[in-house]
Parts: sequence; C-alpha cells; structure tokens
Amino acid sequence: MDREDEVITNRSGNRPFGDVLQVHVSRRRVLAGSLAAAAGGFLSSGPSWAADVEAGKPEQDPLDHPQVDRPQASGLINFQPVPLSEAGGAEVSISADYDYEVLIPWGDPLQPGGPVYDGDPTTRPTAADQAEMIGIGHDGMWFFPYVHEGKESSNAGMLCINHEFGRNNHVLGRGIPGSLEDVRLSQHAHGVSVVAIVRRDGSWRQIRSPYSRRVHVNTPVAFSGPAAGSRLLETPGGGEPLGTLNNCASGHTPWGTYLTCEENVHGYFGATERWTATPEHERYGFSAGGFGYGWEKYDRRFDLADPDYTNEENRFGWVVEIDPWNARQTPIKRTALGRFRHEGAAVAVGEGGRAVVYMGDDQRFDYIYKFVSADDWQAMRARGVSPLDEGSLYVARFNDDGTGEWLELTIDHPLLADRFADQAAVVTFARVAADLLGATPMDRPEWTTVAPNGDVYCSLTNNDQRGDDGLPGPDAANPLAPNLSGHIIRWRDDQHHLGTTFSWDIFLIAATTHDSEDAFGSPDGLWADPDGRLFIATDGPQPAGLNDQMLVADPATGELRRLLEGVISCEVTGITVTPDRRTLFCNLQHPGNGNPAATSFPAPFGSGKIPRDATLVIRRKDRGIVGS
Ligand code: FEO
Ligand code: CA
Ligand code: CA
Repeated sequence: MDREDEVITNRSGNRPFGDVLQVHVSRRRVLAGSLAAAAGGFLSSGPSWAADVEAGKPEQDPLDHPQVDRPQASGLINFQPVPLSEAGGAEVSISADYDYEVLIPWGDPLQPGGPVYDGDPTTRPTAADQAEMIGIGHDGMWFFPYVHEGKESSNAGMLCINHEFGRNNHVLGRGIPGSLEDVRLSQHAHGVSVVAIVRRDGSWRQIRSPYSRRVHVNTPVAFSGPAAGSRLLETPGGGEPLGTLNNCASGHTPWGTYLTCEENVHGYFGATERWTATPEHERYGFSAGGFGYGWEKYDRRFDLADPDYTNEENRFGWVVEIDPWNARQTPIKRTALGRFRHEGAAVAVGEGGRAVVYMGDDQRFDYIYKFVSADDWQAMRARGVSPLDEGSLYVARFNDDGTGEWLELTIDHPLLADRFADQAAVVTFARVAADLLGATPMDRPEWTTVAPNGDVYCSLTNNDQRGDDGLPGPDAANPLAPNLSGHIIRWRDDQHHLGTTFSWDIFLIAATTHDSEDAFGSPDGLWADPDGRLFIATDGPQPAGLNDQMLVADPATGELRRLLEGVISCEVTGITVTPDRRTLFCNLQHPGNGNPAATSFPAPFGSGKIPRDATLVIRRKDRGIVGS
C-alpha cells in the first residue's frame, strides 16, 4: 500500500537539520559500482546542494540523472531480464526463462466447492460468503510445507497470506457502506487466509483441508506479553478482543508459526461525534475521518467517540502469531514486539539461540526496531514460554559515521520511567518511547530480511517530504531530500544479531538505476535467499513507464535484473518459495486499483471483469532455482 498524501505524525525533531553538513555517505563496504558512483556524486555536490536545501526544497535531486556503469554478470543471476521496452500495460511480463500461473485470486473459495466471486462488476459477495473466500489485498505470505517422515514437501503445504486492504469502491462497489452487512463484507475481506495448496498435474490449487481457515476483523484473538491484561487494552464495555487488520508484510518463526503484521490500522477508525485526540492518537495517526472506510457508522467498535470502546484502537498495531497447522488456535498478539505501523517481522536466530525480530514502522520519519528474546528460543519453549513474550525491544539510531546503536525501550530507562506508568505503556506507545530515546527517523521503513551472512536489509521506500520545512533533512542513512525513489539500507549487528551496536551502509539507491535497463523505484518487499540473492519487490512510483516489479540483486557484485513486471497500478509483494526453491509465490496487490478499464487481471483484458488481487506462482522453465 503506497501512500503519498498522509500527514506527518513524527514531529519529535530527532536529528536536527543542522547536522546536514556533517553528513557523509559512510561506507563500511562499497560493493556496487553504481553505489560508489552515486555516493561520489552525492559527496561532490553535497555542500552547495545542502545550502539549497537550507534555502528550501531543492530544485533537483542530485541523483536524478546519474551516469553510472552497471555491474556485470556474476553467475548467481542468469535469467534473461524483462526488457525495459516492455514497460507498462494490462498484463504481467515475466523473464523469458520463466513462466507463471495464477493462484487464489480474491473471491476464490478457501475450500474447494465453497462460495466463489469471479469479478462480475454487477454483483459482490455476501459478507457470510466472503468469510469463506480468499480475501483481498494480497500482501506478505509464507509457505509452510507439509512434512512427511521428516522430509519437507515442495508440492504441498499451507500458504499463509495477508489481506492488507481493499477500498470500499473495490470491495463493496460503493464508496461508503450503507449497512452493517457492507461493513462486515469489508471486514471479512481483510485479515489472513491460511489455505492448503498442492501441485497436481503441473499446477497449484487449493485442496480441502481441516487446517484451512480465514482470520479476519471479527475473529477472536488474544494478547500476550507485557501489555496483556493492561487497562490500556481493556474497553469499558467489556468487549473481548477481536480481529486483525491491515495485515501488511509478515514473518515466520523457527518453531513453524506465521507472523502477520498490522500496519495502517488507524485508517479504519473514525468518530461519529465530537472526539478529541490524545497526543498518542496523534502520534499514531488516528483521526475523526480515518481513510474513509466508514466502519464506525455501523460498527461501534471502530467509533473513537463511543465511550464503551475507548482503547479499542490500542488493540491494533501489533504482530500476530498464527499456527498454520491448527485452525482452532486463537491468533495471539505478541505485545513485547511493540505497537506501531508494523510492516513485517524478519526473524533470525542470534547468538545463544535467541530469537531476534527485525521490524520496520512504515511512515515517513519513523523507525526500525528489533526484538531479542530473553533466552535461547528452544529453552524458552521447553519451559512453556513464548520466545516472543519475554525479551528486549530496541529502536535503531544510525550514526553518520556508519555505526549505529539499538536503544532499549524499557521502563527502566529514566526518560521512559518519567513518561510511562509501566512496560505495558512503553510497548503500547512504542513510537512515543522511541521519540524520547532519539531514534533515527527513516524514509518509510518497509520490509526487512536477513541474509545468510548475517547482513540485515531494510527497504526505505521513499520520502517526498524529507527536507520540507520543519521536517528532518538529509542524513547519512537517508541521504536524499526529497527521496522520491527510495533506497535499501543494510547493517550487521555485533554479536551475531545480539549486540546493541552495529555497522551499516547503504546497499542501493534506487535513483541510481534510473538511466539503466534495470530501472526501479520504491523498494518494498525484500527476501534474501540462502545463496545470498536479494529479491526486491516494488510498491510506488516507477521510472520509465514501468509498472511495479520484482527484481533480483546479487549483493556481492551489485548486479540487478528484472524478473517480472506486474500489471498496471498493482504492487508486487509477498515473496516465498517451496523448500526446493523451484517454485516462488508472489502477489499482485490492487491490480488496476480495481478499475476494469485498466486491467481485468487475472481475467483477460477487455472482459469487463473487476481486477482481483492474486498470487503468482513462478517457475523457471528449466525448473532450476528461482532467481538464478
Ligand atoms: Fe503495507 Fe508499508 O506497506
Ligand atoms: Ca509500500
Ligand atoms: Ca509494503
């Protein structure tokens, strides 16, 4: 979900603008030739450009037209890229070495034989039917293979998939809900699908399974960790906690569960009467109008002005753990991981067997976080304790010299003890705590991923307001102002993910590709494969007439190739593979923004069908490893 129109809620003033002239693009390692050229360009134009910035918004981004040599082939990536000459259009373009099929579009039955919606523009599903269908807004996902006699299958498993959002005009066929039925339809289209899939006769499909289920906005959920039982999560009316919302990117744990991440939850709340926002509401973006979904008109739970539902909004904005192999499991919101606009949750096993979770908070000038479990994850589970319930939550500060620190969000910190009553409040208002500790405001942190060598990557998708009046200017970690196309930052923690210090560099500045065959912008989805390839999926403005796309990079050489280009006005997201890595699943979200005049994907263009979010199943024609 790309948002260009949102108000800034972080006015904490971290990183004062006066630091700009001290900035340099510090390089722990400069790996890509293009990056070296880009960094040089930035440095040589730095002082005069910084003066321009000081005088107002710069006229021209100095990286707008870089002249750079693109790296040469490395051997890790051998597929024929989708050429720039194929840019744009209503259909998918994929490398000539690959093919794809479409799986589980919005409206497909969760179980074979269940209700179906096929994109007929004259009708919509009922709310009850939608609860038994694949939702809309396909985003983060993970494939959990069936395991038989200790062997993981590459032909069968559970696909857990997030349904981030669907605008009313798309889902309901009208802009404002006219009834509770409309609201329920919208709510049931959001959430998560856990769906059993197999490959038979060469193609993937859903199969009937007791494990398949829908989790949506009205599914019972539970809380655990420091905020569980806190009055901050209780509503005066006594309502039990229900639902997950705006499920963006995802993660998965070493113990085999799925993590779904609640991002723009603020947009679903509104106020039917006079309502006054607290500073915490403002910092989290809650407003009387929200995104205009209008749920509050028929569902009191989403009415910020309803006294029976005070604190309902605090129940959203968490990372939620789902067991893909137990359809009766209550999804658990793991409060130790903090509450913010969670993008994703990349889990690594750090020194001492600790579970370490890297997380972005996607808003302009928001932060990157990590959580470290209190002990070895296997030992904790043996004691009956979730590794995601006890541990330390940190927020990142990126120093200009290429070092960084993880600042612990703990009630034991004097600044936080002054502001908050307890650790429950610290995690519930993690953004406010992070402001107080001086975290570095970033250019919209999206996905994180952990490479096999221990490097962690995070997409900073773009920030068209960096350098605007009253807002932070460029710094070493976010060197462009405005940053219209985004970049990817990389760090390595000391003590193998455990340490509170790290070194970092910028892996790639998207604008440096714009004069090249591999042009892209707005990196969002990331996945580092076991060989070290970095898959990059985009969501937002693209150069050269391109639709959103997926590329593959070799971090060792900086080589970059376009694997696929999605249909018009979609976002490409959700990257997961089978254990043999011969099949990759990814998602096309909001194709054509729901407009059949732009595309009817996955139906043929011109059919008049409403375009529907769907999963793409991608394979190499020679059945080699995907990405190679
Ligand atoms: Fe849901 Fe930040 O993308
Ligand atoms: Ca995005
Ligand atoms: Ca995203």
